[in-house]
Amino acid sequence: MSVELTINKEIRPGKVTWRSPSNIALIKYWGKHGNQLPRNPSLSFTLTNAYTETTVLYKMRETPGEDVSLAFKFEGQDNRSFEERLKSFLNKRAVELPFIRQLDLEVFSRNSFPHSAGIASSASAMSALALCLCTIEDQLFGTLKDDSDFEQKASTLARLGSGSASRSIYSYAAIWGKTGLVNGASDDYAVPFGQNLHESFKTYQDAILIVDQDPKKVSSSQGHKLMENHPFANVRYEEARRHLNELGNVMKTGDLSRFNTLVEMEAMQLHALMMCSSPGYILMRPDTLKIIELIKEFRKTTSAPVCYTLDAGPNVHLLYPLAEKAKVTAFIQQVLSPYCHQGKWIDDMVGEGPIQVD
Ligand code: DP6
Repeated sequence: MSVELTINKEIRPGKVTWRSPSNIALIKYWGKHGNQLPRNPSLSFTLTNAYTETTVLYKMRETPGEDVSLAFKFEGQDNRSFEERLKSFLNKRAVELPFIRQLDLEVFSRNSFPHSAGIASSASAMSALALCLCTIEDQLFGTLKDDSDFEQKASTLARLGSGSASRSIYSYAAIWGKTGLVNGASDDYAVPFGQNLHESFKTYQDAILIVDQDPKKVSSSQGHKLMENHPFANVRYEEARRHLNELGNVMKTGDLSRFNTLVEMEAMQLHALMMCSSPGYILMRPDTLKIIELIKEFRKTTSAPVCYTLDAGPNVHLLYPLAEKAKVTAFIQQVLSPYCHQGKWIDDMVGEGPIQVD
């Protein structure tokens, strides 16, 4: 039964809050087409401590207009540039959420990590907002009672805001993009992968080593665009598919050595693609390389199954099993933190996914 998602009766004002985490891609999404559709499937761990908390207050609008009615505050302050981006996103969402223009919206958002920490916040921010919008739809129309319908719509809306955000909806791990590896995988939304994980990955640790906290040199959107005429584009998309199939199985069996090899290969391919794009970009800093070398040396000398991955930036994610926590924390504090910006790093881990906050 399809329900017309427009309001035609009195509604009570409402308030909804979601806390949604960032995620770290193990198989990277790099290259998109059409309306935010990926060129290859990607797989990520959902994190815990790096999150965005977003509250949306809504009430019936006196006079519906073409533009959404929005007031926005980021970390308690007005932020014109974020507000404009959010408004443009919400205006487009009238397709999926026609009632959005009938409401007055006030949005308050904050991150658990400093805005200038060089951590991509689009995944946590867009997923938190998407979850709030789905809760509002359900409160008004009762259309998303079923958990998997709710998650699928939230993931779709999050993807339309930022591709990687589609994956933050699920606990532990998620896959976004068509693949035969899991049933129901789609380019339109991510699907959960946590149910397939070997136990050791459900408590995996991610130390985010902040090498540089300046805003990104190249936005993700610009980066994805560079793939359009990239000489290695097709080879890359094939590689990503091959890596995903293998990593998916490795994550079921818990083969940490192969896990480490595949995850590092993905990070290096992403950066190699950026270096030989036109124009080319070097997103690593000298201290990024130093940290990578030290991680490899640590793995060799201690046999601890640690590995690194990178976003499209200079910061390093050090991934390792919980059982190695004491050893790895000492390694970070004594050896790696001197190469971090002001010694900064974030102690994060795989987690349960978004939560609705009362
Ligand atoms: C390198 O999701 O930030 O982190 O869809 O343009 O918002 P947009 O891009 P975004 O790209 C993320 C790229 C990446 C890899 C990944 O997370 O899969």
